[in-house]
Amino acid sequence: MNMATTVASPETVLPFNLERVRADFPILQTTAYGKPLVYLDNAATAQKPQAVIDATSDYYLHSNANVHRGVHYLSDQATRLYEGARDQICTYINAIHRSQVVFTKGTTDSINLVAHSFGEKLKPGDEVLISGMEHHANIVPWHLLAMRRDIKVRAIPLTDAGELDLEAIPALLNERTKLLALSHVSNALGTINPVKEIIKMAHAQGIPVLLDGAQAVPHMRVDMEDLDVDFYAFSGHKLFGPTGTGVLYGKEKWLNAMPPYQGGGDMIDRVTLEYSTWIEPPHRFEPGTPNIAGFAGLGAAIAYLNQMDHVGALAHEQHLLELATAKLLEIPGLRIIGTAREKVAVVSFVIDGIHPSDVGTLLDHRGIAVRTGHHCAQPIMDRYGVPATTRASFAFYNTEAEIDVLIAGLHKVIKMFQ
Ligand code: ALA
Repeated sequence: MNMATTVASPETVLPFNLERVRADFPILQTTAYGKPLVYLDNAATAQKPQAVIDATSDYYLHSNANVHRGVHYLSDQATRLYEGARDQICTYINAIHRSQVVFTKGTTDSINLVAHSFGEKLKPGDEVLISGMEHHANIVPWHLLAMRRDIKVRAIPLTDAGELDLEAIPALLNERTKLLALSHVSNALGTINPVKEIIKMAHAQGIPVLLDGAQAVPHMRVDMEDLDVDFYAFSGHKLFGPTGTGVLYGKEKWLNAMPPYQGGGDMIDRVTLEYSTWIEPPHRFEPGTPNIAGFAGLGAAIAYLNQMDHVGALAHEQHLLELATAKLLEIPGLRIIGTAREKVAVVSFVIDGIHPSDVGTLLDHRGIAVRTGHHCAQPIMDRYGVPATTRASFAFYNTEAEIDVLIAGLHKVIKMFQ
């Protein structure tokens, strides 16, 4: 499919303009308890531009039908939207073939797919190497695989700053290691891992690498060819698209060799009462009626991002990170968990004597949305000896003024506990 109509050409990209960008996201005008919403929970899910909301409702208004099955007009429309989104994502992440882009429910689903379809070939004693900064979505599927296949899950340790201990990696890679499964960016620490370097280390020993890109794609362009990564998983809802959408990129040599994760309609070649055979990727991994509205919306999110000045957007986010970090560190008794040299705009912190859930609840009353808890990364909390943190996570539509509201809110919280 020719996506020339939906993928903006470089000359349509305007310089980053915060006011214009904010106007694209209707929910940012919302109030919470009568206060202007300050949404700093973007790592949990990002807000959606009007174009994504429209694309999703337009699908139901004008194109609702099932994909791949019907000969009729609406089914053709729905299939074009769904498969068109695949073409857009293929281009966006610089995959070579559209067949390398498998649609899933989200990052968790993508990683579970690999743990099942790739993982079933593993033998007792084989190893999967993860790290100490993984989200549970990149830990639990490997523990489940360990229970099924009697494999071992090992982990790269972290430094005090929240970086991977790169020197520990060579000793952890050996002939039993069958996969390195690593976060590109940590959801709880904000650390950007030097993944290209690590992929090279793993490939030098013939070990494939899966990256959990859930927290990377909202902040940076990712290039599958440049990374030379074997699998890359991410969620649509963190990329300004609808919930229930996700992507698994895979190299053809792996995807083609992998059996289906789930069986059903739309993934088969031939079914008799005695046996089934299946079709090639990506549809081999997409049984049943997919989230067509969601992927229509994700296609719109990609089109939206394509017309955005991503260099300007990233510079703005990095400015917010530096400003928030500096202002937070001025607060007595506040400690930032995750001080890596390379970070996305995510700041986790603890305050002496105040539980993060109290911090979060009191900030909420002031219209400020942050996340508190273990962030589905309990091993990180264990590593830094804290039960939980408060996390402020930024997107390109956040403002300096919102940081001031956060800081003022934190001063109030501290005063209440004094
Ligand atoms: N994984 C998401 C987060 O970090 C939900 O908040």
